[in-house]
Amino acid sequence: MNMKNRTLVFKSGDEDFEAGLLKAADIIRTGGTVAFPTETVYGLGADALNADAVHKIFKAKGRPADNPLIVHIANIDQCSKLAEEIPADAIKLMETFWPGPLTLILKAKDVVPDVTTGGLNTVGLRMPDNPVALELIRRSDTPLAAPSANTSGSPSPTTAEHVIHDLDGKIDAILDGGPADIGLESTVVDMTDKVPTILRPGHVSAEDIRKCVGDVRIGYRDRTLEEGEVARSPGMKYTHYSPKTKVILIEGNIKDVHKAMTEIVSDCHREGGRVGLFVTEETAKVVNADEICSLGKRNIPSQAARSIFMGLRHLDDKEIDLIIVDGTLKKEGIGTAVFNRLRKAADRIINV
Ligand code: TXA
Ligand code: MG
Repeated sequence: MNMKNRTLVFKSGDEDFEAGLLKAADIIRTGGTVAFPTETVYGLGADALNADAVHKIFKAKGRPADNPLIVHIANIDQCSKLAEEIPADAIKLMETFWPGPLTLILKAKDVVPDVTTGGLNTVGLRMPDNPVALELIRRSDTPLAAPSANTSGSPSPTTAEHVIHDLDGKIDAILDGGPADIGLESTVVDMTDKVPTILRPGHVSAEDIRKCVGDVRIGYRDRTLEEGEVARSPGMKYTHYSPKTKVILIEGNIKDVHKAMTEIVSDCHREGGRVGLFVTEETAKVVNADEICSLGKRNIPSQAARSIFMGLRHLDDKEIDLIIVDGTLKKEGIGTAVFNRLRKAADRIINV
């Protein structure tokens, strides 16, 4: 019989959490894997400088080996050990947005193993804004390589339960710090060119970065790459955030989206199918189906950010044949990042 290894779970607020943190740091120092909360999503951490430990992350997630990991640090001084030629603009961004949901791509020093950088000569650095994450990094006394703590390709985890669902028995421990505040992964910015280039949108917006350093380029697409296209960030070429259930995103003006949604629901019902809606509060008053999950208020996209991965996972657990996502959500601010994830998660996008 194939015995499952046990994954330890320590919950913030519980009496033994202090001991749990010590145990988790000990696991990291001895080359193990620990999932931990951040303000964006849960990360799956290992000692970034220990190649064997980092391999375990790839194995647990089923992650392609050429997709590099973000290295998490607890103070700005750690950067100079991991990266060289740190531009003045990068320091400005660190001082403005760290700790926070911003990852900076810099030229890597040789101490960072190839497995961490996916064989690139650059490394992504980020200081998370979460007390449990920062405490774990400090006590481990080493930077933590950490991708999102989900099975590769599935929606990112915003609670410890999501991590358990995907990785129980495959990792050594989980620190449960409650639901993630932001709910969407960090903004990734390449600082190796003269002009900073956004490789993945997040809570820190293009406008925030432009205000801080004067200029910024958009280097991401909302869809996975076409054949023959070259990815600047290896993560761009893989499918992402996809539930097992088919996902249709409908974008356009509000009335047309509601009409198209109603039609697709009736088509599916006619064929004996069941439909889940992932919609704004406003749309939920107009369109109905078999399961409904809320994206929050149409004009407050931070609510959608917090619920997007939770909602996709929740609907994916229901007996439904189709998930329809409401594209009437406001596309400003973090709405840009929400649409980036929704478009990547969708099997089909309908523009009406
Ligand atoms: O908010 C976050 O960033 C979360 C938490 C745990 O910190 N982490 C996260 O990691 O989302 P992951 O591995 O799921 O996504 C990292 C993204 C990938 O698309 C990867 O390709 C890109 O960052 N990336 C990492 N290092 C890079 C590098 N050196 N050059 C270009 N892209 C890089
Ligand atoms: Mg991820």
